[in-house]
Amino acid sequence: MGTFYISTPIYYVNDLPHIGHIYTTVVADVVARYRRFIGDDVFFLTGTDEHGQSIMKAAERLGIEPQEQADRVVSRYHEHWKTLGISHDDFVRTTEARHRVAVEEMVRRIEASGDFYTDLHEGWYCSSCESFYTERELLPGHRCPTHESETEWQSEENVFFRLSKYQDRLLELYAGETPFVIPPSRANEVRSFVEGGLKDISVSRAGLGWGIPFPGRENEVVYVWLDALTNYLSALGLGSDDASKLDRYWHEGGTRINLIGKDILRFHAIWWPAFLMSAGLPVPSTVAIHGWWLRDDKKISKSVGNIVRPDELIETFGPDALRYFLLREMVFGQDASFSDEAFVDRFNSDLANDLGNTVSRLVKLSRSSFDGKTPPEACSDNPLIAAAESAVAGYHEAMGEFAFNRALASLWKLLSETNQYLVAREPWKLVKSEGPSASVSRILWNGLEAVRIVTTALSPVMPTTAASILAAIGGDAVPVERDTLAWGRTPLDQPLAEPVPLFPRIDKAAFLSGEEGAAAPPKAAASPAPKQAPAQESDMITIEEFFKTQLKMATILTAERIEGTDKLVKLMVDLGEESERTLVAGIAEQYSAEELVGRQIAVVANLKPAKLRGVESQGMLLAASVDGKPVLLGPDSQVPNGTPVK
Ligand code: ME8
Ligand code: MG
Repeated sequence: MGTFYISTPIYYVNDLPHIGHIYTTVVADVVARYRRFIGDDVFFLTGTDEHGQSIMKAAERLGIEPQEQADRVVSRYHEHWKTLGISHDDFVRTTEARHRVAVEEMVRRIEASGDFYTDLHEGWYCSSCESFYTERELLPGHRCPTHESETEWQSEENVFFRLSKYQDRLLELYAGETPFVIPPSRANEVRSFVEGGLKDISVSRAGLGWGIPFPGRENEVVYVWLDALTNYLSALGLGSDDASKLDRYWHEGGTRINLIGKDILRFHAIWWPAFLMSAGLPVPSTVAIHGWWLRDDKKISKSVGNIVRPDELIETFGPDALRYFLLREMVFGQDASFSDEAFVDRFNSDLANDLGNTVSRLVKLSRSSFDGKTPPEACSDNPLIAAAESAVAGYHEAMGEFAFNRALASLWKLLSETNQYLVAREPWKLVKSEGPSASVSRILWNGLEAVRIVTTALSPVMPTTAASILAAIGGDAVPVERDTLAWGRTPLDQPLAEPVPLFPRIDKAAFLSGEEGAAAPPKAAASPAPKQAPAQESDMITIEEFFKTQLKMATILTAERIEGTDKLVKLMVDLGEESERTLVAGIAEQYSAEELVGRQIAVVANLKPAKLRGVESQGMLLAASVDGKPVLLGPDSQVPNGTPVK
């Protein structure tokens, strides 16, 4: 296989990382892990962009030096990437000496091509973008089209780069056989922008700004975008004595991908290749561009102030669940809306139910049927083999196209086929009538093998989870090569540990209402913990505390599925009060409306109302949670509505 270079943008250090930065970095990590898995020689780079006006301003507000500001934020980036399992090979900072050397080398090379000249530069400047805008591009009031904040008029003598000279070569590049920009919609946008004509750009800033001194020009710094873009090569040693990494990863024969969000498309698809052409260096093979995570139809952004910080999500659901959600929910290249509700739904249905329950059901059945072990007999002729082959083919194809949502859907299809296969053959009944027969063995082994393949393929997206599932089902803990996706590797007759819940179901109403304490969702187990321990002294409550929860009996009057959901039903219940109450409950998959109407249930009667899918839920029904599936609690015999439970 070949060499494979992938980078994220280097992030500004004027604030902490949010869900948008995490998305890009997780995508790059998934691609890097996948490429290593299929045998490529991978170099994965991320880092931070530490120069420029907005960082200087952020530091000024805090009364600290810009370098101090950068150091603080960088350590938070490191923490986040560690928590999220990001497997980058290098982390470049633009305040490092190796980076300065590389920028000086770029300036020298471009200078040698005769592509610099000096001129007066005037225009409207957005310091969040670090970019000039023309009158035509601005919003009313000279506001930035990306940040909607006010721009400033700037006028100074600068060094200019002859971008206009590269118009034809850029158009040739875009017309090449392998797409330079993906997805195609973005490629069209870039091409028509360049066809519309390119103006030269200024690449120096006057004054003693926070940046790299422009070689040969006192009192000027290198414009932050020329500085920042060069990071992609400074980490490979551009301008240093050691060219070994540059030769290994940045050559015409290898794959070189710059992954970015669409906010910085122009800089990467136009300026960057032009700088490289001028410097006599290879351009990236692909600039891959994803869309924006939105909230209320606006880009999630620190400048807009509608950020989603990942800490609570990671704490509640675990890092792998966040990685899964980001890749499953966004179509690469398009925008997507972030919502807590969608997050809980994906967690409960895809992870707790489809993945977690299938694994634990199979492990439990194997253990109980085969003396705590994997089945003793394999099977080489059954419909799951073809299903697995087609799922794996679909997965590889989609991963190659950055269609991560399709890659995951392809694996989840195999999970659902596995469940159908088990339901049709009912090994849990067979083992009762036949005992641990050869057919029970084959059926369970097939199920385990299909799950092993799903999990192995899932490992670039959910590395920690995949490792613990593979260990739990007796497979290879670390998938090392593409071959591990072929049918037939689940070991026979090997000890199986007791399954532990991988993704304990999250109580959606409680999570969405943000309640603490009793209503707080259980934490997702990051790593297996055998048997539940008895309550610790510190977890115990007094009888007074318990009676703060008012539990009452009620009768269900009507039940209807909430449109657009698989799980939610809207119930009208009689709690012995003047008027009926509405409850929203996640039980539609286990109970039909007919089964519910007339049934008596226990209800938490003094829970703060919470809105679910636009319906206000005025309480919560009680159910036993069996592997995340609800089993309703009811009275032993009919009781008056409103009867307290104590
Ligand atoms: O632009 N949705 O840094 P930055 C998806 N330093 N992705 C998002 C996002 C959102 N709402 N918000 C941010 C810079 N991102 C420059 C880059 S590179 C040579 C210099 C991601 O901190 C996305 O990848 O503003 C976007 O391109 C990047 O963060 C911008 O990060
Ligand atoms: Mg930005």
